[in-house]
Amino acid sequence: MECRLDGQVAIVTGASSGLGEAIALLFGKAGASVVVNYHGNRDSAEDVAERIRADNGRAIAIRADVGEEAAVSALFARTTEHFGAVDILVANSGIQQDASLSEMTLQQWQAVIDTNLTGQFLCMKEAIRQFRAQSQRSASRARGKILCMSSVHDVIPWAGHVNYAASKGGTAMLMKSVAQEVAAEGIRVNAIAPGAIRTAINAENTEGEAGQRLLQLIPYGRIGVTEDVARAALFLVSDMADYVVGTTLYVDGGMTLYPGFRNNG
Ligand code: BGC
Repeated sequence: MECRLDGQVAIVTGASSGLGEAIALLFGKAGASVVVNYHGNRDSAEDVAERIRADNGRAIAIRADVGEEAAVSALFARTTEHFGAVDILVANSGIQQDASLSEMTLQQWQAVIDTNLTGQFLCMKEAIRQFRAQSQRSASRARGKILCMSSVHDVIPWAGHVNYAASKGGTAMLMKSVAQEVAAEGIRVNAIAPGAIRTAINAENTEGEAGQRLLQLIPYGRIGVTEDVARAALFLVSDMADYVVGTTLYVDGGMTLYPGFRNNG
């Protein structure tokens, strides 16, 4: 049995690049109708949607800042207008604005919390309301599926990135608490926690000498690619994972295994 999403509608936030782009493309291949949400980069989002359509899939690009409640409502309204329903939400949008704690501005703190944590809250809220409003759909065993994008930094502290680490630590408990709240309705909520993946958000840490240093933290010995995360996402939202509820799947080459202790600590 393959992981297929035929007849299902998926919203992937932050899908104009990076992890969201790879997830949108793979979901399109798996048969889902895909909403490629973006905030700033319209051309890239349109290009992702076009690539899905060129591969015989169905996709549209829709702009929304996930940190704004009205924009998130409009995103869901346009999705149901266009595709008739929503079966899957991947709350993926995320940003980094790095600074040491004493230098971090309130604006930097707030921007990261707004997109990474409040954005997931607003999208999850809207998705659950939509799942309840629509009659049970036949293409999946679950009434609806939500996948949050966390990070290894929901458990690994990260000096110089406290806003980001706090947002991801928050995501972990947001995900579990919502999963507990809605599981009885047949709604599955889970998260993926990626480790170091080659994307634009972390290009300066994954290339050249920095990339070599980074490998010391990855027992499996390679930096991840976006498809590593997309495949895990497809599994978690598919019926293959129908009994997986409230779990975070670490896709990190072993980064959370305390590699510093490999040689006796
Ligand atoms: C961050 C990356 C970082 C990785 C491992 C991710 O959540 O977005 O920039 O390389 O965690 O530290």
